[in-house]
Amino acid sequence: MQGNNPLMDSTAKYLCSTYARYPLAVKSAKGCSLFDFEGREYLDLLSGISVCNLGHSHPEVVSAIISQTEKLIHVSNLFYQEEQVALAEKLSSTCSLDKVFFCNSGAEANEGAIKLTRRYMQKILKQDRFEIITLSGSFHGRTLATLTATGQDKIKEGFAPLPSGFTTTAINDEMALEQAINQNTAAIMVEIIQGEGGIKILSPAFVEKIVQSCRRHDLLLIVDEIQTGMGRTGKFWAHQHYGLNPDIITSAKALANGLPMGAVLSTDKVAPAFDAGSHGTTFGGSPLACSAALKVLEVMERDNLVEKAGQLGKKALEAFEQLQRKHPRKIMEIRGKGLMLGIELTFPGNKIWKALLDRGFVLNLTQDTVLRLLPPLVISWKHIEDFRLALDELLHDPELCTN
Ligand SMILES: Cc1ncc(COP(=O)(O)O)c(C=O)c1O
Repeated sequence: MQGNNPLMDSTAKYLCSTYARYPLAVKSAKGCSLFDFEGREYLDLLSGISVCNLGHSHPEVVSAIISQTEKLIHVSNLFYQEEQVALAEKLSSTCSLDKVFFCNSGAEANEGAIKLTRRYMQKILKQDRFEIITLSGSFHGRTLATLTATGQDKIKEGFAPLPSGFTTTAINDEMALEQAINQNTAAIMVEIIQGEGGIKILSPAFVEKIVQSCRRHDLLLIVDEIQTGMGRTGKFWAHQHYGLNPDIITSAKALANGLPMGAVLSTDKVAPAFDAGSHGTTFGGSPLACSAALKVLEVMERDNLVEKAGQLGKKALEAFEQLQRKHPRKIMEIRGKGLMLGIELTFPGNKIWKALLDRGFVLNLTQDTVLRLLPPLVISWKHIEDFRLALDELLHDPELCTN
């Protein structure tokens, strides 16, 4: 359904109004489709914000979840659990990191990364360095520490006093990064491609500067892979496009294809800073979430989804660049890697975004002008082509291409 629906009134009555919701109530979802209460089908180009990478209710993930509920749902981290070990082993085989701390969301994973950094400095290195440098336009979460780390002022409004120990420097500005480092600096924390920030990619020169700075000043490198990870950009982790060896990476979103789950992955050098009692969570790494994530990794590997995301994404990028050449005054830039794509318009995009929704295409508008596409990795070329044709047609309507 779009338009008026009793759900809108009862949502306003009973839920905090923290979300500017789309005018769409979703009754069910399957694969790359969402269905409203009238049975209308929508193409999901957003995957619940980069979460349902295998599509909605993937049958093998559903059946892994069902069988796990019959075996063991939760027992707490006071006990050894085979599902946690299996998942941690599998995850560390995807990258150069050694140990995993499981939690329940992206913000919680980044909060864990921040705590791990501070504790590593204080307890292992015995230094009082604590400051974390983050980038303008970044998004790291909504807890007090992670919103302070986030490089966007609007996220921080009304939450003062904010925790100390964070500084933000301009993205892709090597000189500014150099100047931001001081004797208190402990780490640099980045997204390789800023998602919420409008699909902004770190330049190779800037990444090189980050690596050099970490080496020269003995800083930890934290990569927030919450949106970019799990194959989305055509590598399992986005930092692998640059051959980086981060000290800490954070994951969440697509890890369990829709069950809440986060993870902090760290090297054997840093991980010992989290010793018994130093950090924890009741729900993190539940056998239920772990078994879903294990199935996700198994399906991704078997179906070659990382490689497919890279290939399909490249084709989509080229097709959108062609569209840009056709509408040079309407499309400013096409950005992205794999199936993390942004179409930056030269004008505020809400009318186009709404017209696409009316035509059955669900995607996100970020930073007012960027149409952000984060489709399930199992999407077909035909779906992307359908979207491109619809956008092409809508861009011919001057009514939709103004404020
Ligand atoms: C890069 C990045 N980091 C952190 C977060 C926060 O994750 P969560 O909403 O699960 O707390 C997000 C969510 O959009 C994100 O995109």
